[in-house]
Amino acid sequence: MQYAVPLEPTILVIFGAGGDLTWRKLIPALYNLHLDKLLPERFAIIGVARKQVDDEAFRRRLREGVDLFSRRRPAEEESWNRFSTHVSYLSEDFSDPASGPALSQKLEELERAWGVRANRVFYLAIPPDMMEAAAAHLQRLGVCRDCRRDRLVVEKPFGRDLATAVALDRLLSGMFAESQMYRIDHYLGKETVQNILAFRFANSLFEPVWNRRYIDHVQITVAETVGVEERGGYYDNSGALRDMVQNHLLQILCLIAMEPPISFDADEVRNKKVDLLHAIRPIRPEEIHHSAVRGQYGRGTADGKAVPGYLEEPGVAPDSTTETFAAFKFFIDNWRWQGVPFYLRTGKRMPARVSEVSILFRSAPHQPFPSAAVENWQPNRLIIRIQPEEGIVTRIQAKQPGTRLLLGPVDMQFRYRDAFSTAPPEAYETLLLDVIRGDATLFMRADQVECAWRIVAPVLEAWESVPPGDFPDYPAGSWGPESANLLIAREGHNWLQPTMPEERR
Ligand code: BG6
Repeated sequence: MQYAVPLEPTILVIFGAGGDLTWRKLIPALYNLHLDKLLPERFAIIGVARKQVDDEAFRRRLREGVDLFSRRRPAEEESWNRFSTHVSYLSEDFSDPASGPALSQKLEELERAWGVRANRVFYLAIPPDMMEAAAAHLQRLGVCRDCRRDRLVVEKPFGRDLATAVALDRLLSGMFAESQMYRIDHYLGKETVQNILAFRFANSLFEPVWNRRYIDHVQITVAETVGVEERGGYYDNSGALRDMVQNHLLQILCLIAMEPPISFDADEVRNKKVDLLHAIRPIRPEEIHHSAVRGQYGRGTADGKAVPGYLEEPGVAPDSTTETFAAFKFFIDNWRWQGVPFYLRTGKRMPARVSEVSILFRSAPHQPFPSAAVENWQPNRLIIRIQPEEGIVTRIQAKQPGTRLLLGPVDMQFRYRDAFSTAPPEAYETLLLDVIRGDATLFMRADQVECAWRIVAPVLEAWESVPPGDFPDYPAGSWGPESANLLIAREGHNWLQPTMPEERR
């Protein structure tokens, strides 16, 4: 989030360099930063993983990833060759306490050649159960001792629940200062998610109506068409609540509902988010089924093709009770939001890949129009479209052209692709650059992560102790189980059809 700060020499060490994240996201993001000349002049990437491969084989595999997943693909020969000279590989089993000092030697060699002590960024792109070993390895090597220069990037999920998150935090904070830690939630790097703050706080138009007086309720939908892909093993131990709600959806909720920050200092913004999380009304055990529902997809269709149910996916236990859909109703106990329901839902194998926030305004207090004129009337709606068609839509009522007085909804649209000529960077580009710059605004602080776990903890516990009786309960290609409709119907609401590119109403 900072601008024009000269970048210091940096070495990025990726633990878990053989994994999917490095291949699909991290290296394509770094390659794009290289294309945009945003990386420091003296920059090196060291991939660390157990497998024995040489630098050349490692680079070849990374290039395939760039060819497949980079926003500017395929890789361009000359640029890739230049970029790949910064990349090397180290085969190391960091979980073995006897593993040698190869990493520290490599870091020192590079720094000797550059003639400076570089900033060192250690990116833990590894499952939560390996974090402890990786952190202990770094501590043993003593390579991460400079609080200003050395940084640790931790991928989500940060723990499996409140207790494990607290334990992991205690462990890491015994080794590293909070200022060294960058806990990633990649949704915070998305251009449209960051724009929520700009939209709310750089315009004076919306703040006066951004409260219980004018807003009836808010819906946040993060829907995916994909199933669990090749990640069945991970996902089956996680589920929609841990994978999406505890982090991505609650972060979006924070940005929509938080109070205005005094400045864009990392801690000021994060304080305001923590305040908001504290204000979310705790879900009482006896109210869980009124506040949260889960679902699991069965066989159905995706993009017009027949697809298997969750229980048939590779890596998934055939009797799994893991949820692939979750919906929540939250209330926020503060002056601004008292009594306004916030509905959140997310699921795999939904009919569309669409993430958006719908703000539903209250009806006009008095309707002066004849009843025939307002048959088609709808409340005002503001839609923040996070993806795929990034933008903001304001739905207002207009008089339909003609001799009769007839009102109907029309949309005022702001679309990123029309308004700006440059393609927005991928979330990981923004986040990696922020780590390199040392700006933690878009990263989660320990207390934020813990608050988020505390909010979902009663539901997590209830779902773990009472297995669902009716899974699978929604067909792939649908908007989730009927229980999600009932959850929100109780308050007199219904889920709004997200605005899809081909269908705007
Ligand atoms: C990840 C989840 O954090 O976010 C995945 O682990 C999910 O299960 C992904 O598919 C969605 O991210 P995006 O950027 O594609 O919306």
